[in-house]
Amino acid sequence: MANHEKYLVTSALPYANGPIHLGHLAGAYLPADIFVRYCRLKKRDVIYMCGTDEHGVPITITAEKEGKTPQQVVDYYYQDIKETFRRVGMSFDNFSRTSRPIHHQTAQDFFLTLYKKGYMEKRTIQQFYCETDRMFLADRYIEGICPYCGEPGARGDQCEKCGKWLEPTQLIEPRCKICGSKPVIRETFHYFFKLNEFQPRLEAWINSKTHWRENVINFCKNWFREGLEPRAVTRDLQWGVPVPLEEAREKVLYVWFEAPIGYISATKEWAEQIGQPDRWKDYWLDAENTRLIHFIGKDNIVFHAIIFPAMLMGYGGYVLPDNVPANEFLNLEGNKFSTSRGYAVWLKDYLDKFDPDSLRYTLAINMPETRDADFSWREFQARHNNELADILGNFVNRTLRFVHSYFEGKVPPAGPLSEADQQLQQTARELAELVGDMLDQFRFKEATRLFMDLARAANKYFNDQEPWRTRKSDPERCATTLNLCCQTTYWLSILMEPFLPFTSQKLWTMLNMDRPFAQARWEEIGQATLPAGHVLDKPSILFQKIPDEVIEREIDRLHQALSSEQPPPAAAQEAGQEQTLIDIDTFRQIDLRTARVLAAEAIPGARKLLKLTIDLGTEKRQLVAGIAQHYQPEQLVGKTIVVVANLKPATIRGVESQGMLLAVQDEDRLVLLTTDAPVAPGKRVS
Ligand code: 2FM
Ligand code: ZN
Repeated sequence: MANHEKYLVTSALPYANGPIHLGHLAGAYLPADIFVRYCRLKKRDVIYMCGTDEHGVPITITAEKEGKTPQQVVDYYYQDIKETFRRVGMSFDNFSRTSRPIHHQTAQDFFLTLYKKGYMEKRTIQQFYCETDRMFLADRYIEGICPYCGEPGARGDQCEKCGKWLEPTQLIEPRCKICGSKPVIRETFHYFFKLNEFQPRLEAWINSKTHWRENVINFCKNWFREGLEPRAVTRDLQWGVPVPLEEAREKVLYVWFEAPIGYISATKEWAEQIGQPDRWKDYWLDAENTRLIHFIGKDNIVFHAIIFPAMLMGYGGYVLPDNVPANEFLNLEGNKFSTSRGYAVWLKDYLDKFDPDSLRYTLAINMPETRDADFSWREFQARHNNELADILGNFVNRTLRFVHSYFEGKVPPAGPLSEADQQLQQTARELAELVGDMLDQFRFKEATRLFMDLARAANKYFNDQEPWRTRKSDPERCATTLNLCCQTTYWLSILMEPFLPFTSQKLWTMLNMDRPFAQARWEEIGQATLPAGHVLDKPSILFQKIPDEVIEREIDRLHQALSSEQPPPAAAQEAGQEQTLIDIDTFRQIDLRTARVLAAEAIPGARKLLKLTIDLGTEKRQLVAGIAQHYQPEQLVGKTIVVVANLKPATIRGVESQGMLLAVQDEDRLVLLTTDAPVAPGKRVS
C-alpha cells in the first residue's frame, strides 16, 4: 500500500427525486469541488466521490405523487442531476448511484458484518400500519401534529417547523400520508444498530478533532449529552437494499444506513473503471495515510459525524472522517428556499441563462460557512459586473490587448526588475500561500476574496506603471511591465481555477499554452513561466456585463412565487390521484374574508406586481399581488375579493404584503375570486 498522504473527498449524495438548486450547490458541492481542484493543483493524491441517493421514502413519495415507479423517478433524476453538475463544473472522479449492484452488495456486506459482530439487535416493536394501503408507514409516510410545537403536518421522523426528531408514535392525530386514513398499530420487528456501545469511542474521537467547525462539534456534544441509543436500521418497505437475512426477506435497509456506504461503493466502482479494482482500498483501508473529508449541509451532521463513523468503527479497518465541514443554509433574497412554492433558483435554469463561474464566485465569496447566508440577484449582478468583469476581466483584457497592439501579440522580454515588479511577484506568491492555507482550513469565503486580491493588485500595478506612457518614454520598462502582466495573467489562470474553472480554461487557451492544464502547479504562481516571444492568442472578453433588466426579470419571478395566489397544484392532483385529506378544523385555521379594493397601483420596477389597498371591514390593509399582467389597476377598484386574512406578512420588493388574495389560474389567464352578490367587506368566508 502506498505510504503517503491521500485525500478522499465526498459530497452528500443528493436524493434522486428532484433537481438541484442553488442552496444545494452552496452547501455540499461547490466547497468540495473548490477544495479538490486546489488539491490537484498541489499535486496531492486526491479522489472525489459522489452519486445519487436513490432509496428511501422521499423517492417513493415523489413516485406516488407523479404517478411513476420509483425506478422511473431515479433514472430521470440521476441523469438530470449528473448533467447539471457537469455544467457547473463539479469535477467528481465518479458520480455513482446507490441503486447499482455494487452498492447493494457493499451495503449488505456492511449490515451482515455488523450483525455477525454482534452490533445488531433484533427488536419487536409497535408500528403504524395503514389497512387501506396494506403497508407499515415508515418515516415520512406518516404525518400528524407535532407533540412539541403543535404544528400540523409534522413527519413521522422529524417536525420541519421545530426541527425535533420524532418517533412516529409520538405524533398527535397520525394519518397515512398516502390515503389520509387513520393508521392502526401493528407488531413488526426491526434490527437496531447498537450505537450506544460506540459512545465512549466516538466521544474520545470527536474530542481529538480540535480543528473541526464549532457547529459540528457542538452538535455532536449535544447528542452525547442526551446519550446515544440503538437505532433501527431496517424498514418495512419494498424499495431499497434488501436486508440480507432469510428471516427478514421483506425488509430493506434504512436509507440513512446504506446511503453513506455509497461513498465506498462509488470508490469501488471508480477503481473498477480505471482497471485497478483494489485501488479503493488504498483510500478506505489505509487509515494512517488517508484524510477522509465529508462535505455536507448541517442537516446531515449526525449521520456523518456520529452514525457512519460508528458503523466504520464497528466494521473495523476503515478510515474515519478527518473532517466533516458542514455548511449552514443558504437563503434566497431574504427568505427560505421553498421548492413546493416554486421559490427557488434551479441550477439548470440558471445555467441556461448565465455563466457557471459567476455563480461559483458569488456563492463561494458568500458561502454559509459559519452562519446562514443569502443569495440575492442584485449582489450576484454586482459581483459579476464590478469584480469579475471590472477587476479580473479588465486586467486580463487590457494586458492582452496591449501586447497585441504594441508587441505583435508576443510576450515582451523582461529587463531588470524594479521594486514594483518584484513587489507584484511577491504579492502573487504570498496570496497563493494564503489562499492555499484558507482552502486547507475550509475557509472558502476568505480564500475567494484573497484570490481576487491578486487581480486587484495587478490592476493597480498596471495603472501605476502607465505602460501607455513608458511605451514612448522608456520602451524597455514598458516591455518589462507587460512581461510581468503576462506572467500575472498566467498566475491568475492557476489561482482562479478552483473557483472559476471555465474562465481559467478560456484564459489558458488565450495564453496559447501548449501543455494541458492538468500539468499546471500551484507553486508556479509567482514564478516567471511564460518565455519572452511566446505567442498569445487574440483576447476575447471574459465577462460581459449583466444589464439591470435581466436581473429584474429574475427577481420578479421570485416575487411572483412569493405572492402567488395559488400554491402550485399538487402533482398528485394533476395525476388524478387521491389527495391528502384535511379535517374541518385544519380548514378553519385559514381566515378567509371578503375585502373591498380601495386603491391599486403599479410597483415601480416590478412588472408583475400591483399594490392594493383593501378595506377589511374593521381595518385597511395593503397587499402585494402578482396580477399586473392580468388586471389594470383601475379595473380592480371597487371590486369585492376574497383574501386570506391571517397570513404572516411578507415583504415583496420592499413593500409589505399583509395578506393574500385568491385567484384561479386558468391556462394563461388569472381570474380573481369575487362574490356572487354584493357583500360587505370583512365577512368570513366558510
Ligand atoms: O439529505 C440528503 O439529501 C441525503 N440524500 C444525503 C445523503 S448523504 C450520504 F449519506 F449519502
Ligand atoms: Zn393509507
